[in-house]
Amino acid sequence: MLERAKRAARAALEAWRRAASASHVRQSRPHVTRATLASGLARLGVAPGDTLFVHSSLKSLGYVEGGAVAVISALQDAVGPQGTLLLPTYYLPGGSVRATCAMPDYVFDPRRHGTHMGRLPEAFLASDAIHRSIHPTHSVSAWGRHAADLTEAHHRAPSIFGMGSPWQRFIACEQAKVLGLGISMGPVTFYHALEDAMGDAFPVPVWEDDVKLLACLDHAGRRWDVPVRPFDQAVAQRRIDHASRNDLRDYFAREFDAAGLRVNGQVGDAASWCIPAQAFYAHLHRLASEHVTIYASAAQLAARPIGRA
Ligand SMILES: CC(C)(COP(=O)(O)OP(=O)(O)OC[C@H]1O[C@@H](n2cnc3c(N)ncnc32)[C@H](O)[C@@H]1OP(=O)(O)O)[C@@H](O)C(=O)NCCC(=O)NCCS
Repeated sequence: MLERAKRAARAALEAWRRAASASHVRQSRPHVTRATLASGLARLGVAPGDTLFVHSSLKSLGYVEGGAVAVISALQDAVGPQGTLLLPTYYLPGGSVRATCAMPDYVFDPRRHGTHMGRLPEAFLASDAIHRSIHPTHSVSAWGRHAADLTEAHHRAPSIFGMGSPWQRFIACEQAKVLGLGISMGPVTFYHALEDAMGDAFPVPVWEDDVKLLACLDHAGRRWDVPVRPFDQAVAQRRIDHASRNDLRDYFAREFDAAGLRVNGQVGDAASWCIPAQAFYAHLHRLASEHVTIYASAAQLAARPIGRA
């Protein structure tokens, strides 16, 4: 009884905080609509039939009339009925893969568990015709033409980003693109697809030795034990998404610009970018062969000039 009251109080407090935060954005930022967002996406090269993996910051777009739902509608407008959207609806109750693996009674349940990846993934998860992959730390949600195929085998994949995972299937789609809406080159999960595909040949040992089996329920309530290998903590500290690695984010942005692979533009009020997935992957592979990875040291970056032909 007391627990239920505490939960209700926490939810009310969060709803109040969100309303205050949205009101601040409404008063302080330019207003944008579903239509202006869709035209910004078209300028980035997003086209009907595309399969988009989207990482986002809602706040950076300006004040979106209609909120996160309007952004999802704009994305759907941009890729059209033959297109596909993928969003990271990861649920990490421990705060990290490692800490989640250490939770003794954790069982992922897609029917109960939301996402910790922000307001857009949250709204996407709550929208119609979504397919959600079964994964204890990196559950991906998809809408559209390839949605079922991209998500259906995640719980049977040998690793988070390995064969059968949404990322490996995404790369195989024609017109696959990674889209950053108001984000830097930091929080981009796609990088890890190369690590899992290269395995021991990847120049940095990014994983801990032990593979854990984490329990999940599928949409029908059947139980699966899914293999998860935490990131090595020390290595993760020097990764491109770590607060201290502005140098790496800047290097990757300039490198992908110089390679002519990154299309930059405004979506609403947000500096945004889009990179075709196959070319993204091939270029990451090439950079890895030159010792530039999302873990590279300042010395490694200095040793390889940006845009080396
Ligand atoms: C962390 C991150 C999500 C923060 O971005 P953000 O814009 O602050 O957060 P969200 O996208 O959740 O948007 C919520 C904010 O939108 C704002 N907002 C609310 N209504 C809004 C509206 N109608 N229009 C625009 N902004 C609005 C609010 O300020 C809200 O902030 P709050 O949490 O204080 O209420 C973002 O920087 C990021 O890293 N995104 C990528 C995440 C990801 O994909 N990770 C996986 C890769 S490893």
